[in-house]
Amino acid sequence: MPVTVDQLIDALRPVQDPELHRSIVDLGMVRDVDPAPDGTVSLRVALTVAGCPLRNEIQNRVNSALLAVDGVTGVSLDFTVMTDEEREDLRRQLQGNGHAHGHVHGQPQGHAEGRAVPFAQPGSRTRPLLISSGKGGVGKSSVTTNLAVALAARGHSVGVVDADIYGFSVPRMLGADRDPVVIDEMLLPTEAWGVRCISIGYFVPDGQAVIWRGPMLHKALEQFLTDVYWDDPDFLLVDMPPGTGDIAISLSQYLPRGEVFVVTTPQPAAQKVARLSAAMAGKVNLTVRGVIENMSWFTGDDGKRYELFGAGGGAALAAELDVPLLAQLPLVPALRQGADEGRPIAAVDPDSETGRAFHDLASRIAVDMRPKKIFSSELKVV
Ligand SMILES: Nc1ncnc2c1ncn2[C@@H]1O[C@H](COP(=O)(O)OP(=O)(O)OP(=O)(O)O)[C@@H](O)[C@H]1O
Ligand SMILES: [Mg+2]
Repeated sequence: MPVTVDQLIDALRPVQDPELHRSIVDLGMVRDVDPAPDGTVSLRVALTVAGCPLRNEIQNRVNSALLAVDGVTGVSLDFTVMTDEEREDLRRQLQGNGHAHGHVHGQPQGHAEGRAVPFAQPGSRTRPLLISSGKGGVGKSSVTTNLAVALAARGHSVGVVDADIYGFSVPRMLGADRDPVVIDEMLLPTEAWGVRCISIGYFVPDGQAVIWRGPMLHKALEQFLTDVYWDDPDFLLVDMPPGTGDIAISLSQYLPRGEVFVVTTPQPAAQKVARLSAAMAGKVNLTVRGVIENMSWFTGDDGKRYELFGAGGGAALAAELDVPLLAQLPLVPALRQGADEGRPIAAVDPDSETGRAFHDLASRIAVDMRPKKIFSSELKVV
């Protein structure tokens, strides 16, 4: 019996667009499916944007799905590109809530042009994890990147906002250096190691500094939260800029359920600065959930631990803030090297001492610290 078009569409249904993580059939990307009597299937796939970087991946997925159908002997695939109207429909289908230029009144924490920050909505299931520190260079971005990778490896959907506007570094550390794709003003985050990422780094020409004033920063952050297609992730990690100020205030407004994690190094001086950042969190009404100590020790070839930066800073800060010390992350050259090469240690060497420390940290946050109260918009008292 010859293969029917319906059979072929059914076979294509489980094929997902690699960026949107939705069925290419549901997204309306599959066109003109035509099985020939000799078993060859010709079809057209409409890409969201011209020059879609993942076109080969789509081609491979479609080929294997169709060739698995009994009676299909070959696939002839043509690509086309969606029209502006189709892209607009697609964006609406994905984001649901009106056009980017629409207006929603009475939404204080909304996008200036209409959309509200999804993470501020009562029904949001996303846990925003704000990774902060009082001073620079303590490993905030390294912790953000590796923790994100470790959470993704546990099967969670994970997004990272690089809110360190001046010192953006997450795309490089994550190896997510492709530019984000834009569909009708909706930004698709770049993805690596199962983690989606957005950063000001994607919008600044190489080698140029960002000189932005407060309101522009506020606006940029707002867009990162509203115009990016995050797709309701389990976790949204935010690499906070060092210190405090404007950005923390904006973020506390956009992410009212944000959980703050303070990264510190073991020496008491660092602890003093980290304490400041915790005080800031208190001022903007965000909860500090835990302390993460980084560069705690270096294990020599002799197997001994050398405490290069002293000891006890993390534990002392945790005691003072009355929160748990969630992790002590050893100093290892492989972590720096991995960060420089876009190969996070939690992804490429999960069984190393530091890799394991990140996976343990992920488990403590995802399992032990799972919120007891489930926020759900569907639960209404009748
Ligand atoms: N545990 C570690 N072992 C080895 N190197 C580390 C470790 N943690 C961080 N580093 C390295 O230290 C440097 C600073 O780390 P990172 O960029 O993560 O810190 P940061 O707090 O985000 O800094 P900034 O304030 O500049 O944003 C990086 O080169 C990073 O690779
Ligand atoms: Mg950083």
